[in-house]
Amino acid sequence: CAEVDDSSKDEFQELLRTLEQRVNWDGLPLVKYCGCWLLVMLFRPIIAAQNHFKAKDTDIILTTMPKSGTTWLKALTFSIANRNVFPIDQSPLLTSNPHMLVPFLELNIYKEQDNPDLETIPSPRIFSTHMHFKMLPDSIRETDCRIIYICRNPLDQLVSHIHFSSQNNFGKDADPVAIDEAFDMFCQGINSFGPFWDHVLGYWNAHLENPGKVLFLKYEDLKEDITSQVKKIAEFMGFPFSLEEEEQGMIDQISGLCSFESLSNLTVNKRGDINGILKNSSFFRKGQVGDWTNYLTPAMAERIKKLMDSKFEGSGLMF
Ligand code: A3P
Repeated sequence: CAEVDDSSKDEFQELLRTLEQRVNWDGLPLVKYCGCWLLVMLFRPIIAAQNHFKAKDTDIILTTMPKSGTTWLKALTFSIANRNVFPIDQSPLLTSNPHMLVPFLELNIYKEQDNPDLETIPSPRIFSTHMHFKMLPDSIRETDCRIIYICRNPLDQLVSHIHFSSQNNFGKDADPVAIDEAFDMFCQGINSFGPFWDHVLGYWNAHLENPGKVLFLKYEDLKEDITSQVKKIAEFMGFPFSLEEEEQGMIDQISGLCSFESLSNLTVNKRGDINGILKNSSFFRKGQVGDWTNYLTPAMAERIKKLMDSKFEGSGLMF
């Protein structure tokens, strides 16, 4: 991606004017940068993160398309990394939404300040981002920090996003379009952080190239067998469970605390919001696999299947 100077707001606005823009299906303005569709409101924070974020070898970076399991992954990684700091029954997750404990680079850290001081955050620092692999700040690729990616069936991801957008009414330029039009835009790759397939393939290829650097997870696999996935995540993070911890049921305790049923029933996640913009409750809807069948037609599913088959052909990846 071409380097962009974020020091002058005027030049930045000028650049923005030269880039292709569209209104997303949910009414939020999008800009196309480096082949990816980004929310206009996050463009400057993304560039600031690219220019200023200095990863450390001990950092853990969670990367996702929106609505793919970010909240769940934040809760799990936070709990794994801090299990010796907070006993499960005193976990900060009981009183804070996971997004308050693991910040996004572009939605939190670099949205509030262009070049914040992150040095004082104790290791391991856990950050998250929706950026494509190719857009990540160079230091994330160049240091030994670890990247954990989670993706989700595209039909469920889209349906989840449509519901999420309907719950949070902010910064919209237009009313949301009907679901079939949203679906059509998704198939053209036009959605926030789209195209979906480029996002997934970027991390999939990075994982194949360096599996010790990039862990590739699927939401559906976590739903199917959370125990083995939590073990895998902990090992990858460099915090494997000891035999003693396993015997004491630590994996079950963390999985239980971070489950949809547990988190969605906490008062903090039923009420309140993030920065007055996003409702905490909007991050917890159904937490199921296959809910798309209630909203999308078999013909739509067939179109997505064909599209994904062609995009992922030869990659070894299937949805
Ligand atoms: P649904 O809308 O299908 O219910 P993200 O965290 O990336 O924003 O994704 C949100 C989706 O993950 C929502 O999906 C939400 O319900 C689901 N989710 C949130 N927390 C979860 C958890 N602890 N376990 C399983 N799914 C969870």
